[in-house]
Amino acid sequence: MIKEEIEKLREQLNHHNHLYYLESNPEISDFDFDQLLKKLQELEEKHPEFADPNSPTKRVGGDITKSFNTVKHDIPMQSLGNSYSEEEIQEFINRIYKELESDQVEFVCELKYDGVAIAIKYDGGKFLQALTRGNGIQGDDVSNNVKTIKSIPLKLRGVYPEKLEVRGEIMFSNAQFEKLNEEMIANGDQPYANPRNTASGTLKLQDSSIVAQRGLDCFIYSNVNSKGTSHYEAVTGLNEFGFLTPSVKNNRFKICSSKKDIMDFIHYWGEHRFDLPFAIDGIVIKVNSLEQQRLIGSTAKAPKWAISFKYQAEQVETTLNEIVLQVGRTGAVTPVAQLEPVLLAGTVVKRASLFNEDYIQKLDLRIGDTVQVEKGGEIIPKVTAVNMEARSSDSVPYTYPELCPECNTPLERKEGEANHYCVNEVSCPPQVIGRMQHFISRKVMDIQGVGDETIVSLFEAELIKAFIDLYGLTYDDLIGLEGMADVSVKKLLQGVEDSKNKPFQTVLFALGIRHVGEVVAKTLARNFKNMDALMNASEEELIGVNEIGKVIVQSILEYFSNPHHQALISRMKELGFHLEISEEEASQSSQKLQGMSIVISGVFVDHSRDELKKLIELNGGKNSGSISKKTAFIVAGDKMGPSKFEKAEKLGVKIISEQDLVKLLNE
Ligand code: IVH
Repeated sequence: MIKEEIEKLREQLNHHNHLYYLESNPEISDFDFDQLLKKLQELEEKHPEFADPNSPTKRVGGDITKSFNTVKHDIPMQSLGNSYSEEEIQEFINRIYKELESDQVEFVCELKYDGVAIAIKYDGGKFLQALTRGNGIQGDDVSNNVKTIKSIPLKLRGVYPEKLEVRGEIMFSNAQFEKLNEEMIANGDQPYANPRNTASGTLKLQDSSIVAQRGLDCFIYSNVNSKGTSHYEAVTGLNEFGFLTPSVKNNRFKICSSKKDIMDFIHYWGEHRFDLPFAIDGIVIKVNSLEQQRLIGSTAKAPKWAISFKYQAEQVETTLNEIVLQVGRTGAVTPVAQLEPVLLAGTVVKRASLFNEDYIQKLDLRIGDTVQVEKGGEIIPKVTAVNMEARSSDSVPYTYPELCPECNTPLERKEGEANHYCVNEVSCPPQVIGRMQHFISRKVMDIQGVGDETIVSLFEAELIKAFIDLYGLTYDDLIGLEGMADVSVKKLLQGVEDSKNKPFQTVLFALGIRHVGEVVAKTLARNFKNMDALMNASEEELIGVNEIGKVIVQSILEYFSNPHHQALISRMKELGFHLEISEEEASQSSQKLQGMSIVISGVFVDHSRDELKKLIELNGGKNSGSISKKTAFIVAGDKMGPSKFEKAEKLGVKIISEQDLVKLLNE
């Protein structure tokens, strides 16, 4: 009965996932989807006997891979020969005609996705394993991470073969990449520059739940063991199994019988590639017939029946009018090139990031220079070179400003860091405004009735200089300001008042301490339990917390040693903010596991893995992903892997049950 219910839920979730991610045609709301998922999660937790490594609940991640196993590919993952011109395409076609002794050849043209290659195996229609390309002969097993990618089926649809291996490309859509960077900036971290490298780094993250949050995509371009007659058929068939494959309908996959057809395809995407919602770096031309592919064969490195045509990164020349320094919420300074507006890859470019002082020096950029601007794999254009011949004889080397352009405070650059910082966090306007905007934002204190614009106007009206001033605003201060009628004033005041009820971990995140994002704030809150303990924590105590590295520790120590921040925290106490964990959490907390490194493994009955992790942290312990001599004990549920058992035995590490853990904590 329960088993059937679980299976039905899995089927429903797979079906709705497919409609959402492959058909872009959802039938139920996100809310209803989440309800179904939650129900399945609960049932699976209660009934570990019906666990399934390919359940849709695995999409949210949570499995940790300490080190990735290297696995040999059944069939090597080759690369592709490149071409850059019409002549080279002609040579490729001539070679094929010659090999086949015929010019009756069909080609398929498709997009060359700019991501990371992946090989995914299925057995009996179920996801079995995903490997990176590695050196082509062997790659890394990144299955836990790949399973979180929603456009990859965990269970195949339709009539599928017993064994299947597909290959494709994992990548970020432009929208997801921008979203990720917005979050990086909101957390006070440097944004990523390049979607391809970030996709590659994401696949190698140890914590699959972070991979799940990043929203990677996957396009499949080949079926390794196709039994059909053509590549075209093979790929279209894959779509029926539930993979995201290129479509003929929008000209992303096309049968071409002549050089003209191929060149038309190349030119079309040369013009339209920046309209795509993701990055491509060229197109791929393949012989369509699988029989002809076999006849033509491969070299050691690449098939001879396929070639890629690479687009040059689009480049234009323009004048560098000025370099302005932008100051972010954390005081990090970014130099930005102000360019003479120029058309590049379909958009007018006026600005380009120059990253830091070293970048400017390496290029020897000078105001007035004629510079090359390029749009390649990156979404944001880059200045890549100076046209030295066009340089005017009276140009002078650029000297990096010594003062903050916003508040005239001397800029600082720490040893080993590339960025300059403005350290005047108390009154440098973009820092003050940025921090307040972070504070009120939806993911942080979520203050109703206050938006980014409100913060700017209140700051300009000199009503607020720091987020704490929001808590002193009165009806009379606000009424009559632009856009502030009775209803909106009341809403704002209520929103501010309500925000005092946010939990400690959110308040900690809201302070905007550099490198203390949502996850770090949660870890700190659970470990130190209240603000006083955190403020008084020594360097050793902070370093002792799992997943808190040196850079974060320095930033925390620096933050709390500042008298302004100490005064701020006192004021927050007076106002009644939650500066300690909730009573419920406190009742579960102790120092019983102080300093112990604990591994949890297997499937549990009374608690979810997250609950167990939280319990361990609340009681002073550290969660660790792998067993070592230092492991205090292992909390094992059902289905703990045999290799873990062996390792525990060898090292003499004690294994206890979840009930034992609870008993231990209640003693
Ligand atoms: S076919 C035997 N088709 O490009 C090689 N590859 O430069 C089969 N790539 O490692 C590759 N889009 O990761 C093929 N439509 C596409 C592709 C594609 C991107 C990547 C692939 C490969 C690299 C080779």
